[in-house]
Amino acid sequence: MNFDAIAQDRLPALLRAMPKAELHLHIEGSLEPELIFALARRNGVTLPYPSVDALRAAYAFTDLQSFLDIYYAGASVLVREDDFYDMAMAYFARAAADNVVHAELFFDPQTHTDRGVPFAAVIGGLSRACAQAARVHGIEASLILCFLRHLSEDAAFATLDEALPHREHFIGVGLDSGERGNPPEKFARVFARAGELGLHRVAHAGEEGPPAYIRAALDVLHVQRIDHGVRCLEDAALVARLAREQIPLTVCPLSNVKLRVFPDLAHHPLKALLDAGLCATVNSDDPAYFGGYVGANFEKTFAALPLAARDAYALARNSFTASFASAERKARWIAALDAAFAASQ
Ligand code: ADE
Ligand code: ZN
Repeated sequence: MNFDAIAQDRLPALLRAMPKAELHLHIEGSLEPELIFALARRNGVTLPYPSVDALRAAYAFTDLQSFLDIYYAGASVLVREDDFYDMAMAYFARAAADNVVHAELFFDPQTHTDRGVPFAAVIGGLSRACAQAARVHGIEASLILCFLRHLSEDAAFATLDEALPHREHFIGVGLDSGERGNPPEKFARVFARAGELGLHRVAHAGEEGPPAYIRAALDVLHVQRIDHGVRCLEDAALVARLAREQIPLTVCPLSNVKLRVFPDLAHHPLKALLDAGLCATVNSDDPAYFGGYVGANFEKTFAALPLAARDAYALARNSFTASFASAERKARWIAALDAAFAASQ
């Protein structure tokens, strides 16, 4: 591929048009304020904000926990199976507009089951939406069940047990919520069990937590990808290992700025990660809260950093190679990616 033949001014259009996978998306984080209020009305839930504008105005976060407090409050409007379906279909429409062809969605069952919502309603609505996304948008979607790390490992085991009758509807487990003080080691046994069950394993690590959490996610939880992982750059030996083993990092630039991991996009290390030979990908994390879906993450990050066409190609290609899709699907998407780049030369 002759990347130098692609003019810099064609890059924004190419960033949107190129096929891509999204691998780090909390479906509850795609709940737009308008849908939060519509679902609150539908379910008779009272919100602690008088209006959509007042809710949006509260999206001024100082760190991960300040975001999580509002994110869990927003998720309280999800009650019935249709709510989960409607939320996911709204996400898929946005993802399709950004040419996402494959999505691996995180969901947080404990956020719902702890309020009395049946697990079957959560996974029923989400899996129905995944099937519909294939029909309506041509998006292949799958689900990854995340354990909340601020809760106990026993609670994670109970959630896994509750999920097993629905095993065909999710492909793996993840670990999210407040990172500080909740190291990967806390979930060693439940991740081992997930591995025995043949589930894929991923974990948030090195977002706010130290590089040691990334090492523990790899060595203790045996994860196949690291979610975020941006703080690996504080540890040169860890960077060398991540590059050597090509462990994918699902990076979320707008999230990192909103949660003040970095002061602005100009200081974001996405280019440094790519230049270090890491398998980095671009994702939206919680797009309704962080100012944009995956297309906006690409567009704004490329506008702020000295990233070029070869970086765009690497990021899209990495999104496919890092996915849990079949080799046949990956090859098909990478061929479509090559065609998109060839067409813009
Ligand atoms: N849950 C939703 N978004 C998250 C994030 N960025 N980090 C940890 N837990 C989350
Ligand atoms: Zn996340």
